[in-house]
Amino acid sequence: MDKTLWIVSGGVEAVPGIKRAKEMGLRVVVSDMDAEAPGFAFADDRVIASTYDAAATAEAALEYSRKNRPVHGVISIASDVPMTVAKVASSLGLPGITVETAALASDKLAMKRRFVESRIPAPWFSAVESPAQLKSIIKERGLPFVIKPVDSRGARGVLRLDSTVDPDWAFSHSIGCSPGKRVMVEEYIEGPQISTESVLLGDRGYTPGFTDRNYELIDRFAPYMIENGGQQPSVLSDADRLSVSRMAEDAGRAIGIKNGIVKGDMVLSKSGPMVIEVAARLSGGWFSTDQIPLATGVDLVGAAIRIALGEEVSGAGLTPRYWQGVAIRYFFPRPGRVLEIRNLERFNGAPWVHRIGFFVKAGDIIGPVTNHTKRAGFVITKGDTRAEAVERAEEAVREIVIETSPAEGASA
Ligand SMILES: Nc1ncnc2c1ncn2[C@@H]1O[C@H](COP(=O)(O)OP(=O)(O)O)[C@@H](O)[C@H]1O
Ligand SMILES: [Mg+2]
Repeated sequence: MDKTLWIVSGGVEAVPGIKRAKEMGLRVVVSDMDAEAPGFAFADDRVIASTYDAAATAEAALEYSRKNRPVHGVISIASDVPMTVAKVASSLGLPGITVETAALASDKLAMKRRFVESRIPAPWFSAVESPAQLKSIIKERGLPFVIKPVDSRGARGVLRLDSTVDPDWAFSHSIGCSPGKRVMVEEYIEGPQISTESVLLGDRGYTPGFTDRNYELIDRFAPYMIENGGQQPSVLSDADRLSVSRMAEDAGRAIGIKNGIVKGDMVLSKSGPMVIEVAARLSGGWFSTDQIPLATGVDLVGAAIRIALGEEVSGAGLTPRYWQGVAIRYFFPRPGRVLEIRNLERFNGAPWVHRIGFFVKAGDIIGPVTNHTKRAGFVITKGDTRAEAVERAEEAVREIVIETSPAEGASA
């Protein structure tokens, strides 16, 4: 019998995952609020429900399973909606993360408290209720700090605080990015930043996703913490890779993931690996669907789908089969109104360009870069080595021009 998989999100970054599920012979239901969601084109059944509305999606899934056919698994692809996935899983009795794990994954304070209880190294942190409290923490503990919303994503409202940043402004900016109006501060951890993506199979863990994150523009965009891509394979030693990977896997277990994916924001500090946060889902940004399989030959999305269906997954397929150089870099055009995108032809067809994408088009206004959603586009490149992939991505970002003219409102 064909199995049915429910995929939460039909966004453009979910498309490779939806296609993968189809290749695996599954019947695929996609739910998304946007009737024009690109993923709908590849789905067998489409359901209009906001990915962020856990109750509505769970209700729609229950109705679908009663009226149409049983659903055997639920997963999100490139969408940060653990509560929606957990609620669908619990109301249909499917494998997957629990509502408790989803709650920990959606609340950075609760997650960090759990890390402390589980002895997972993480930055010192505190909730902050007011600018006055922020100032007294700074006075007591000294700078630098990071202030961030407890409940947001995409680096919205994440600011590095040093002596040049006004704490009153930082507090109000950060809380303005928090849906629940809650912010926290953390010690700023120096050291190489790494994105990990692991598969937990009971007490075994595998971390095929391991990217060195590029923060070369951190001063240019300060106090906003803007990442400018990343590259594989990592420059870290085998021993460091292993310790960061083990820590990411342990952090996933600490929030209650038993079988499933854990995505980590990790820093290798002077005193060892530290966890900034983990997520109980596949990553976006073409990381889980494209960059990891390209660099390693590991079918991470396929493994995640099998786990979502409660099927047996062998660890053998989760260790990198090889390492190819893969890099991603972002476009940061001058703020203003977009006139045109030039010099694309040379790169669009190049065999070493895996994917180029833009989040803006002619006529759009580009404002200042204050979080990851404000980046204008990206390029993903391949190379025999990491250095070759990076060089190619940097060349593409240099040569392809998103031309802008000064526009009213662009500096708002
Ligand atoms: N305490 C910290 N020390 C060093 N870097 C940090 C710290 N907090 C956040 N960052 C950097 O900023 C990024 C965004 O912060 P994060 O807490 O992951 O928020 P989001 O949910 O928006 O991804 C992190 O992935 C990390 O690269
Ligand atoms: Mg993060």
